[in-house]
Amino acid sequence: MSGYILALDQGTTSSRAILYDAHMRPVKMTQRATHLHTPQAGYVEQDAKEIWQTQISCAHDVINQAGLLATDISSIAITNQRESIVIWDKQTGKPLAPAIIWQDRRTEAACKKMAADDSIEDVQRITGLRLDPYFSASKIAWLLRNHPNIKARAAKGHIAVGTIDSWLIHQLTGGAHVMDITNASRTLLFDINQLTWSDALCARFDIPMSMLPEVLPSDGDFGKTKKGLFSKQIPIHAVLGDQQAALLGQGCLEAGMAKNTYGTGCFMLMNIGNVPKLSEHRLLTTIAWQKQPSTASERSSLEQLMQTGKRMLHANKPKREVTYALEGSVFMAGAVVQWLRDNLGLVKESCDIEALANEVDSSESVVLLPAFTGLGAPHWRSDVSASISGMTRGTTRAHIARAALESIAYQTYDVLVAMQKDSPHALTELRVDGGAANNNLLMQFQADLLGVPVLRPKDIEITARGAALLAGLKTGLYDERIMRDSWQVERTFEPNMSDDVRDAHVDKWQRAIDCALHTI
Ligand code: G3P
Repeated sequence: MSGYILALDQGTTSSRAILYDAHMRPVKMTQRATHLHTPQAGYVEQDAKEIWQTQISCAHDVINQAGLLATDISSIAITNQRESIVIWDKQTGKPLAPAIIWQDRRTEAACKKMAADDSIEDVQRITGLRLDPYFSASKIAWLLRNHPNIKARAAKGHIAVGTIDSWLIHQLTGGAHVMDITNASRTLLFDINQLTWSDALCARFDIPMSMLPEVLPSDGDFGKTKKGLFSKQIPIHAVLGDQQAALLGQGCLEAGMAKNTYGTGCFMLMNIGNVPKLSEHRLLTTIAWQKQPSTASERSSLEQLMQTGKRMLHANKPKREVTYALEGSVFMAGAVVQWLRDNLGLVKESCDIEALANEVDSSESVVLLPAFTGLGAPHWRSDVSASISGMTRGTTRAHIARAALESIAYQTYDVLVAMQKDSPHALTELRVDGGAANNNLLMQFQADLLGVPVLRPKDIEITARGAALLAGLKTGLYDERIMRDSWQVERTFEPNMSDDVRDAHVDKWQRAIDCALHTI
């Protein structure tokens, strides 16, 4: 059997490709930057063609650089930035507008109006989410409202829409229009109980259902690469939203286990098992993964369900194959450091931030509130903007750098407090990954604030790893043992702060949040 998995990781600021060998070891990685465009305040867009071209170039490069051939690859796994959408012409396959990215807030007013008219509880009951510009639905609706010709063609069934996984699969296969269920669960159009598109929400957002892809389990059959793209046609065997992939890659397989990924944003997910419990503390309930049945009896029950209708096939599958997660989505984490680097020139490279922040023992009274694209969980205030407060004549670049790192940890603290109220499982440790997880100062402060050990694994490319794992399990290249054994801790950050000091920190942050929430 060909012994490698090719994982494609399409994130907000870069496309990557990573090759994993038969022992689940990453052997080569390539990366290309992608560009965010902000043509107006609140708008965040990307060129859909650039997303595809950077991703496919990385795939070709990584195979070449590893000295392999396409025949060495047993399958492709995809993981991607979630909620962002691409709209394309079904006939030509060409994108019809820039991709609207998850950080985009242009639909804030529309969402507010809808929230005033509709029952938010109904939206949460169906989707597990909130009426917020973050999710895909209002972005699709905006495109249709603002492009009457696209809307007219969509009504006739000529237009396709998809999240980034869907767009990449369409390009890779030369035409498939499918989406993985974890990505579907981020659209605000998907019923996480029935496991099908919600007629009611599609109607409410005025989105024709003919635009939407077929939804497949995370280890479904997503098709093969089109002829000529590689020297052989490679099957796509696993697709997961990046945060769900990280949950799997971190080995959070039991209910109550949680991870936090410090990427552009910061996303804490806790596995909550097979029942989609709704949050009572302003978190999200989302699909962590859905695996195809592996036993004969599971397969035969699925075959019976197949008689009941093609499009509803996956909708009717037994829920025991679905694992759900509670999620706290924080919009700015690593992006705060990027902002200090690119907009203020405070550091040359992002990794310089730790040394700068270490020049001072404390941020003193400085608080950086990183609401550059509003505040996500648990506040959900898209109207709040970013600020730096508490500066004095003695404030230096180092204090601001330290306050920036602390802001990432404080936001995670707020999410954890909400999660602990929602979940029957007390958090005993937090597994971390993503670029900013390499920052020791941040990780120590995080452990101190949360009061639980923070565990950083050896392989920090957890997102790609999770997707590769699922593809390898599906093809038989990996087994459950590799899945459990290949996760290893590189460093544990034990909490080491007195309650008084921690309370003072939390209090300082809380005052800044209260001030921002109440001065609008
Ligand atoms: O929900 C947005 C998230 O998927 C983006 O992830 O890694 O690009 O910050 P990342």
